[in-house]
Amino acid sequence: MLTTSLPGGTWTLGGLTVTRFGYGAMQLAGPGVMGPPADRDGALAVLRTAVELGITHIDTSAAYGPLVTNELIREALHPYPEALHIVTKVGANRDQQGGWPPARDPESLRRSVHKNLETLGLDVLDLVNLRLGDATGPRPGSVAEAFETLADLQRQGLIRHLGVSNATAEQVAEAQAIAPVVCVQNMYNLAHRRDDELIDALAGQGVAYVPFFPLGGFSPLQSSVLSRVAARLEATPMSVALAWLLRRSPNILLIPGTSSAAHLRENIAGAALSLSDDDLVELDTIGR
Ligand SMILES: NC(=O)c1ccc[n+]([C@@H]2O[C@H](COP(=O)([O-])OP(=O)(O)OC[C@H]3O[C@@H](n4cnc5c(N)ncnc54)[C@H](OP(=O)(O)O)[C@@H]3O)[C@@H](O)[C@H]2O)c1
Repeated sequence: MLTTSLPGGTWTLGGLTVTRFGYGAMQLAGPGVMGPPADRDGALAVLRTAVELGITHIDTSAAYGPLVTNELIREALHPYPEALHIVTKVGANRDQQGGWPPARDPESLRRSVHKNLETLGLDVLDLVNLRLGDATGPRPGSVAEAFETLADLQRQGLIRHLGVSNATAEQVAEAQAIAPVVCVQNMYNLAHRRDDELIDALAGQGVAYVPFFPLGGFSPLQSSVLSRVAARLEATPMSVALAWLLRRSPNILLIPGTSSAAHLRENIAGAALSLSDDDLVELDTIGR
């Protein structure tokens, strides 16, 4: 049984207990999520700090770099502590321009799962998300062939649990009819609340919702309401944004990204901020 002093406590993803405060490794790659980091030692230090501070959920993808964040994770943390769970994604490649072309045909998915196993130095992947849609967001369309391919790899023992990412509610339901879905990883934050209904529905089913871009991603969250609430609480807007997500629903798991160990510490401390009902009502006006 994992106990943690990290804000939010823990959540069970399938059979895996993780801290609700996790870490997203995407920002460790070079500019545009391509190539190596400018500060390699700094990147390794961020990963080691995350584990030292008790984080047991790290999000990555072979597409970050490509392969850069997986290799950094392996270098920094292998052999992995038993409690650590590394979540990866398949379904997109990288092109020369840094684009993210879909790669969801069965052969590409199989190749990507094996590439993740190899670069992370694992025999089994704890959790693999099928990334859907494109850079503009979810796109409708059947996920059956792609999700069945992953379910097959799961039956072969290469994957413990499955999730979907950048998905519509219909695609989540279609995937759930094929195999259990333990998490949905979509874009969501104080200002971008398209998934409000989906989050509540998943909470009712005991399925985790993992917002990507919790701090706004490449364009930091900016809102006069957020700045006002943060100033009143003598906190940073980032702290308020993370604390709000933890309060929003118990099935929300955080994977904020940073390339800085100092920011990581700041974010952990900030997410513990206590928000009053009045703060919540005010913050609710941002994304509605
Ligand atoms: N499924 C998908 O399609 C998908 C898409 C995008 C991302 N993701 C995952 O989601 C994770 C989170 O998204 P994200 O990292 O792109 O965006 P994010 O967490 O919303 O924001 C990260 C940005 O915030 C900055 N930041 C973080 N803490 C800060 C602090 N205390 N003070 C000032 N700036 C701070 C970081 O800069 P510094 O480096 O300077 O701290 C970085 O630029 C990713 O790492 C990735 O694992 C998934």
